[in-house]
Amino acid sequence: MAVLRFPENFLWGTATSAYQVEGGNIYSDWNDYYPAGIACDHYHKYQEDFDWIAKLNQNAYRFSIEWARIEKKEGEFNSRAIDYYREILLSLKNRNIKTMATLFHFTLPKWFAKMGGFTKKKNIFYFQRFAQRMFAEYRELVDFWIIVNEPQVYAAQGYLLKIWPPKKRNPILYLKVLRNLILAHKVIYKNFHQKDPQVRIGIAKNNQFFEPHSSRCTFDKLTVKIANWWQNHYFLNKLRNHLDFIGLNYYFHNKIKFPFFIKNENKIVSDIGWEIYPKGIYYVLKDLKNYGLPIYITENGLADKDDSLRERFIRDHLYWIWKAIQEKVDVRGYFYWSLLDNFEWEKGFEPRFGLIEVDYKTSERKPRKSAFYYAQICKTNHLAT
Ligand code: FCB
Repeated sequence: MAVLRFPENFLWGTATSAYQVEGGNIYSDWNDYYPAGIACDHYHKYQEDFDWIAKLNQNAYRFSIEWARIEKKEGEFNSRAIDYYREILLSLKNRNIKTMATLFHFTLPKWFAKMGGFTKKKNIFYFQRFAQRMFAEYRELVDFWIIVNEPQVYAAQGYLLKIWPPKKRNPILYLKVLRNLILAHKVIYKNFHQKDPQVRIGIAKNNQFFEPHSSRCTFDKLTVKIANWWQNHYFLNKLRNHLDFIGLNYYFHNKIKFPFFIKNENKIVSDIGWEIYPKGIYYVLKDLKNYGLPIYITENGLADKDDSLRERFIRDHLYWIWKAIQEKVDVRGYFYWSLLDNFEWEKGFEPRFGLIEVDYKTSERKPRKSAFYYAQICKTNHLAT
């Protein structure tokens, strides 16, 4: 048996987002398209959930702040909601858990969506005002800030594919949203840094591993280059000098056979058909090395209701992360997606990503076997293979 050690002070955690777990987010734009009801009722059960984080030896937690809760109406900041997230952060701190807070994880206040959301440059002002307020309130309690989660996924689902709010198909708006998210990130980054040069700000960027179907086919190779540039590096390149770390959300591998994408060749898939390809995280990490920034895996996980693949999934991905670390990639933490089963956007409650199973009738929690496997790694800071 080999014992693979991780760097000292490595962060071992899980991730969630507000709309997916809290419940009662009726002021969010998503509520008009895909209501999540009480979701996991995390809004009321956060103490129990944080007890699990601690019991499972995790030392870090990534979550998001629901803007629509804080600012139900434009310009009116809700003091109860502000107190609520302070309570969340204090409850984590009391358990000695490092905090990573996301400011925009796909959902928006209805009023902001109505005025065009991120399609309009002038609307950045409102997001910036919210971000500044959050910083003023919680700067002592947040260890890591993520301004935007998966900007390209958000823009594509909402403005090209007609799947997520506002369900449009408009390439111009798609590009505008991307441009404005870049601008918003930069402005907020500068602003936070002016107030506190020590602050740590990143992005949660979903990068995929692309490879040519045939390494001898020039077209396959060229398409891979373009896909890699656009999907993986375009946004990050724009943010060079405006990031203190990179957050990587890793889920996908695509073999490209010009002009089509071929997926799932090895046929091991999760409950929702996503291919499981652990080695891809190694390539993606190596590819991120040249930014010269610390990297945190801000999401990695799978839908696996009967928990038959999760342990192996975690082990194999951690092996390849470890390998990248041996080759001098500066990875400093891993957040499994997700702590709990939750509302998987347009797919609803069916996909089960949680280390902890949720019974949606009773809101009862029950850790799966793999939760204890992961807990052992979190405790020992090593992987036994
Ligand atoms: C990511 C999202 C996250 C969750 C996982 C499965 O794209 O950031 O909210 O839905 O996928």
